[in-house]
Amino acid sequence: MSSGPQLRRAFRRTDDYTPDTPKLKLVEEPLPLPLSPTAALVRVHAIALNYRDANIANGGNPWPVLPNGILCNDAAGEVIAVGEKVKALAVGDRVAPVTDTENISGRELGRSWLAADEDGVMADHIVFEQEKLCKLPSYLDWTAAATIPCAGVTAWSALKGMSIGQTVLIQGTGGVSVFALKLARAAGLRVVLSSSSDAKLQSMKEKYGSPPLLTVNYAKNPNWHEAVLELTDGVGVDIVVENGGTGSLVKSMKCTRRGGIVSQVGYLGKQNPAELAELIPTVIDRRVILRGINAGSKYDMEDFCSALSASQTPLDDLIDSIWKFEEAEEAVEYIWQGKQIGKLVLRVRVG
Ligand SMILES: NC(=O)c1ccc[n+]([C@@H]2O[C@H](COP(=O)([O-])OP(=O)(O)OC[C@H]3O[C@@H](n4cnc5c(N)ncnc54)[C@H](OP(=O)(O)O)[C@@H]3O)[C@@H](O)[C@H]2O)c1
Repeated sequence: MSSGPQLRRAFRRTDDYTPDTPKLKLVEEPLPLPLSPTAALVRVHAIALNYRDANIANGGNPWPVLPNGILCNDAAGEVIAVGEKVKALAVGDRVAPVTDTENISGRELGRSWLAADEDGVMADHIVFEQEKLCKLPSYLDWTAAATIPCAGVTAWSALKGMSIGQTVLIQGTGGVSVFALKLARAAGLRVVLSSSSDAKLQSMKEKYGSPPLLTVNYAKNPNWHEAVLELTDGVGVDIVVENGGTGSLVKSMKCTRRGGIVSQVGYLGKQNPAELAELIPTVIDRRVILRGINAGSKYDMEDFCSALSASQTPLDDLIDSIWKFEEAEEAVEYIWQGKQIGKLVLRVRVG
């Protein structure tokens, strides 16, 4: 190891939440070496951004974050060194860490989210214990593979249990939503997509035109749930990928069929518990199953990667744009302003 890299470049948060001030600082710092006997050193090739990153950088995370921690939880890279007891991985393997590093099988009691409880992955090198790293599908390039751990695994978990012919309501055109749309299409589900923007809906209709995408503008139509009911002959959808939180949850339930599932993924917009006044009567009346989604375990991620490899689902089309590593600050701001359709990815070039 002594001949390998000893330093890394990383973006750490400034923790200055004043508008129009930098949210990130590029630092050069020693790598956490020597490697433990069961750890691997990974050269990062691509990092995907999520709403969560912009929210954390702007001080909005509902859970505690490490002071001046490294941002981001999605990275794809290659193993360049392993500890002497590592058996599951070898130099050259293409890997990504799981987002909640305490959630390996799904039965663990603890939680530890990258970029919150511990440093994230917005760096050119990262070190993880072997059990926290998942092998990535070989058919995907680095930028597409980087989108898997958070948005991909979340969409996978949110749609679990669906079968061909069922209808899903997907809210918004962000990273999780576009991933969910692609998975829904691969699984033969009918999709109702909502957005605040007619232009975004039009662009998605053109991109995913066959079979025709059903769409609703939730910003123009405050009673969008009634529009969703109309689109489903008054029955409601089988499942919702719920992104809004308090502002949309009750409406989502009202347009879910009796006995259907609402997968609660997001909490976009200002969260106000007063908006949940009708929650209990609605959940009882419609017999809705409310399912909390917390990305997924490493086993979920492995299942998802197997499904992707089997279906060879292309992921390039869910990438909005690819940015340089050095443009991290601008990229986070772009997400914060909600300008993207799908995923923003940073390409990391190691000098
Ligand atoms: N639970 C988990 O495990 C998990 C994992 C990943 C993400 N999340 C959460 O899921 C949400 C989406 O994440 P993301 O990374 O996909 O975000 P993103 O890429 O930033 O996308 C957000 C999109 O959602 C739409 N949107 C905004 N406000 C909305 C509202 N009030 N109701 C419905 N849609 C709204 C907008 O689409 P339009 O412009 O088309 O309207 C926006 O572009 C976030 O709250 C994130 O924190 C949760």
